[in-house]
Amino acid sequence: MSITTLPDLVGSPQLTGLNRIFERPHGRPMLAVMSRWEELTGGTSGEDYAARFAALAGSGKDMHGEARFCAALVPAGARVLDAGCGTGRVMIRLAELGYDCVGVDLDASMLAVARKKAPGLPWFQADLAGFDPAVLDIATDFDLVVAAGNIFPLLAADTEAAVVERLTATLRPGGLIVAGFGLDEAHLPVPPSITLSEYDACCAAAGLTFVDRFATWDADPYDDGGYAVSVHRR
Ligand SMILES: C[S@@+](CC[C@H](N)C(=O)[O-])C[C@H]1O[C@@H](n2cnc3c(N)ncnc32)[C@H](O)[C@@H]1O
Repeated sequence: MSITTLPDLVGSPQLTGLNRIFERPHGRPMLAVMSRWEELTGGTSGEDYAARFAALAGSGKDMHGEARFCAALVPAGARVLDAGCGTGRVMIRLAELGYDCVGVDLDASMLAVARKKAPGLPWFQADLAGFDPAVLDIATDFDLVVAAGNIFPLLAADTEAAVVERLTATLRPGGLIVAGFGLDEAHLPVPPSITLSEYDACCAAAGLTFVDRFATWDADPYDDGGYAVSVHRR
């Protein structure tokens, strides 16, 4: 991705150094605020991210909790949108289990790893805050949207409601959105931002109904702890 900074705009009250003009992925406004993920990683961490998870898997750690959780909610063959798919960690497993998956992410370095690992799967570079599946010829009848790996706290500030609205629009009526994210410093690589009540309010505003909430991807009951997996229905 080539990036041009706008030094003349950096001092303006509306535009900080985080605002840049991008060669635009789909859904990205001409002047986009950098996501917290991009601030954290510089948008170049795909190989490192994959290596870290490969090392964890190599040490015997279970890497498939998210995919198992989704598989318990919808049957094999169901359409799943992996929102913020990154290197494809969750989606590749779901595809192996027989799900019909589509992955969307903004970070080209993450998607490059996903494409290398699973070239036959559909990976799209797009900003979830402006995601328009029709433009990419993606049907909007997903049975389930999964946002795993702290997607919501890693979005650009103040885009959370727009992302929930965009993701809701991709679901068939009755479809589910599952989001797992940290709520405190112990469970996040960035300062905590979105709270559960704020997330629930975004979901309600998008017309979603609360289904259930868990403490882990193993479906342990939610205990007011620092990590939650939330399920809402369209
Ligand atoms: C910690 S990674 C999680 C990746 C994957 N879901 C997983 O669990 O391994 C967070 C991902 O969120 C993506 N992301 C953040 N803001 C985004 C946005 N506005 N649109 C699309 N993806 C975004 C990042 O590019 C990054 O790949």
